[in-house]
Parts: sequence; C-alpha cells; structure tokens
Amino acid sequence: MPSETSPAPRRPFAAWLGETNEVTRLFLSAGAIPDLINLAGGLPEPATFPVPELAELARKAVAEHPGDALAYPPIEGLPALRDRIARRYSTEALRLTRDNVLIVSGGMQGLDLVGKALLDPGGLIAAQAPTYLGALDAWRPRSPRYRPFRPDANAFDAEAALAGAQFAYAVPNFSNPTGRLVGSGTRRALVEAAEATGTWLLEDDPYGALYYDGEPLPRLIELAAERAGEPAPEPYDGPVLYLGTLSKEVAPGLRVGWVIAAPEMIRALTLAKQGSDMCTGGLSQRVALDALEDGLDRRILPGILETYRRRRDALCAALSEHLADRFGWEVPVGGMFVWAVAKDPALDTDRLLAAALEHKVCVAPGSVFDPEGRDRRAIRLNFTLNDEARLAEGVKRLAAAVQIT
Ligand SMILES: Cc1ncc(COP(=O)(O)O)c(C=O)c1O
Repeated sequence: MPSETSPAPRRPFAAWLGETNEVTRLFLSAGAIPDLINLAGGLPEPATFPVPELAELARKAVAEHPGDALAYPPIEGLPALRDRIARRYSTEALRLTRDNVLIVSGGMQGLDLVGKALLDPGGLIAAQAPTYLGALDAWRPRSPRYRPFRPDANAFDAEAALAGAQFAYAVPNFSNPTGRLVGSGTRRALVEAAEATGTWLLEDDPYGALYYDGEPLPRLIELAAERAGEPAPEPYDGPVLYLGTLSKEVAPGLRVGWVIAAPEMIRALTLAKQGSDMCTGGLSQRVALDALEDGLDRRILPGILETYRRRRDALCAALSEHLADRFGWEVPVGGMFVWAVAKDPALDTDRLLAAALEHKVCVAPGSVFDPEGRDRRAIRLNFTLNDEARLAEGVKRLAAAVQIT
C-alpha cells in the first residue's frame, strides 16, 4: 500500500560539499565543449604510455602470479614492490627498508591518508602556495585552516612557516601549479625547520623525473636522512614523508603510488588505508613491480622528456608571440606547467576562464589553487597533453579571449 503522507525531504549532503565554487563548476562543464583545446588539466600524453609492454606484463601478472594479481594483497602493498621502492630511493644516507614504504592508490590517495592520519577537523596546514588543487580537495572534508608559505620569497623564514602546523606540504620539484623548483638552500631550510619544530613535512614529488634541463636537486627526504648523522639509521626515521607515483613516469591508470616515511608514520597511514580501500589493486601492483624490475620506466623516460621539452618550448614560444604584453611567466625547467601572471592587476582570470571557454580553450585560473580563492591574476597552462600545433592554436584562442575580458 502506498503511504498517504508525502516523503520527508532527504537529509542534506555534508556541509563541505557546499564549499565547491562556481569556477570549479565551470571547469567541470568544459569537458562537454566540442573541439575544446584543454590547457587546464595536468594529463600526460597518452602516446607515451608503453602499451604493448604493459599489456604483456598484465597478461603475465594474471597467468603467472595470480596470487599477487587476483587475491587481496596486504594493506601495505606487495612485499616485493615495497622492497623495490625502498631500493629505488636508498642512498648511503637514506637507508630504507620495506617498513618505510606504503603502496597507495596513486599519489592522490597518499594525500588523503596523510590528511586522515595527521589532521584534526579545523587543523592548521602549512602549505606551499599556490597549492595543488587535488591536495586542497583531499583535505577539504576536514575544513582545515591554511597558512600559505612561498619558498621563493625573499627572506623566507621556514621555521615561522612551519611552527604550530599539524603538517607542512611542499612540491619542491616543478610545483603544481607554478612549475617552479624550490632551490637547494630553501630545501635545507625546510628540513631543518621540520626538525626544529617537530613538524611532519610532506614532500609531494610526482614530477621529480621530469627535469628537461640541469641536474636534479636533492630530495627533502635525502636531506633529512643526511642530517641524521653517521652511521645513518636504518630504517630511515626522519620527519619528511615522501610521496611518489607512477602516474607521470609510466601511466596514471595504474593508480600506483607510494609513501616513504618513518615506520611509525607508515603504521598510522596503513590504519588509515585499511578504512579507505583496504589495499591497492594487486594486478596494478604486480604490473608496477615487473615494470620497475624490467627497467621499463628508465627506457621510456628519454622519449617522454624529449616530447615534453619540445612542447614546453612550443607553448612558451606561442606565449611570447601572442601574450607577452599581457602576461609574465618563467620558462619551467621541468614538470608539466607554465604559470602566467597578468601584468594588469585588473585582468580577472576567473572572468578570463569564462571568455576562454567561449573561444574553445580551457585554462586553470589561479583562484582554484588558493584555499581562499582570492588569486585572480594567474593562470596555469599545461603543455604535456597537446602537440605543438594545438598548443599554438590554444594560445591564439586564449589571446582572443583576453581581448574581450
Ligand atoms: C602535485 C601533485 N600531487 C599528486 C598528484 C596525484 O597524482 P596521482 O594520484 O595520479 O599519482 C598530482 C597529479 O597531477 C600532482 O600534480
């Protein structure tokens, strides 16, 4: 019998879901625009994915290692993959064991788990600014407060930046969104400050392999290990948590990343992961393990670097041709992004996004990388997904959009 009373209104969604803004909605709608040139995302070029090699590894994983690929793996990850990651990052000073490694479902899950393990509701995060949108998304359900720090600022005071925060967050290699490198001196200062203030320091490093020019700078976790003195403690026990991923080096669809940290932190994150997805897919982990053992990542890297270096140069050349009078930018040494700042403070880049979509090009406005949503002068441009001709056409369309903003 149908009830005669009308159904009660449904209970509302959690309050934090109301915090997404109009720009995000506009952004999400862009996917439906035909012939759109997307300079907004952070996606790798699919042609760089080693398709036949991964297909063969996946076949072998299921046929020859069904226990790894098809059963529930341990929460921490396949032991052999944890060992492989420990070996990949070990140096004389940084002595890693399996107990230092947690396999996660992409770097994104690492961000989520760190928030679960370290952040109380309304807690304080010291975050490199501007800040990766995915990190802001991961921590939003806890309604954190942010204390932004700019490591490239003159007279940057790392101790003041970190003191009192529940954790600190940095992307030292080719930050998303700015594409900038944090210099060696500032890296040291951050690590010293983490020690001096007892603050966990999260080093998020998806772009660390993507150096197009020059030698890689030391990782924060390496600097932390060096400071521990000799003989280096094993397992590593420092304040830096390192977050790595196969997303930019092999393929993001594998959803395989890792956290490297002190064993007590790995134990805490494991508890958080248990209540999240219980384990990262065994098939992906087995494929990742065999790909790394086989050196597939090292073999495909030169091709990736060559493609992206050319595309970076093409994007910057197009910007010089069409937008040099309206924006300033630095040519990034690596990574996937150019951060362009409007010369005229009156140019509102949230409004520019709307005009850009009318011209069938999408860029990421600075406001989405600011926890307060206040940066209206910058845009992030991705150069890895589109070829040189599409990049040039995208910048031309953007220049037309700037004219009507
Ligand atoms: C700074 C940063 N951290 C983490 C991630 C997450 O990567 P994934 O979850 O694909 O490993 C990304 C992806 O673009 C990123 O730019």
